[in-house]
Amino acid sequence: MLEDCAESLGATIFGKPTGSFGDASTFSFYGNKTISTGEGGALYVQDPERRRHARMLRGQGMDLNHRYWHPILGYNYRMTNIAAAIGLGQIEMLDFHLAERRRIAACYFKQLRPLEAEGLLRLPTQVDGYSSSYWLFSAVLTGGGDELRARIMNQLATEYGIETRPFFVPMHRLPMYFSEESLPKTEFLATHGMNFPTYTGLSDADVDEICGAIGHVLRTVS
Ligand SMILES: Cc1ncc(COP(=O)(O)O)c(C=O)c1O
Repeated sequence: MLEDCAESLGATIFGKPTGSFGDASTFSFYGNKTISTGEGGALYVQDPERRRHARMLRGQGMDLNHRYWHPILGYNYRMTNIAAAIGLGQIEMLDFHLAERRRIAACYFKQLRPLEAEGLLRLPTQVDGYSSSYWLFSAVLTGGGDELRARIMNQLATEYGIETRPFFVPMHRLPMYFSEESLPKTEFLATHGMNFPTYTGLSDADVDEICGAIGHVLRTVS
């Protein structure tokens, strides 16, 4: 099992970090992630033999103990020393960034609960023992669809200067993996989900203001 942990660095399930469940796990350090090296990421491989193999693939297939001897065909997937130095500095800040994102998420939950009670939004489920990294705080519209969501996002941007993002397009709707198969829950989330501003430095007052705008737009949009 390969775990895609691009967004979940720092999340835990009953105290066990994501990335430690599968045979291997991948982490993204792209600029918009919880910690960043500008681009790139990290691969963790559980099994020591496979880990050695992955290290060889990363470094042009070179034997780890025999310089310039390439027993297999590999790639040049090395992280630069400069990016690695930035990454090490970022890891020291990880707990801080996670705490900030959890503070921001708690603020969103508090401010958006009334909209959920009015049936306008569905907020993320919080499950005992599961601790999210809240890379982004997301919610799902209960009605409408692609077109209504676009109007809501546009109004938030033009009237209030608040950027939001739609959920990703499902894989089975992308040309290279296209399938006629119907996956209603995935498709509902893809057409109704919105991501709200989530970044270290967003104050509680900022979140209050964002939620005020979301409330106003959701109650008036038709
Ligand atoms: C779930 C998931 N997997 C993979 C990626 C890709 O990460 P990268 O841009 O570092 O290749 C992303 C990027 O946002 C992601 O959200």
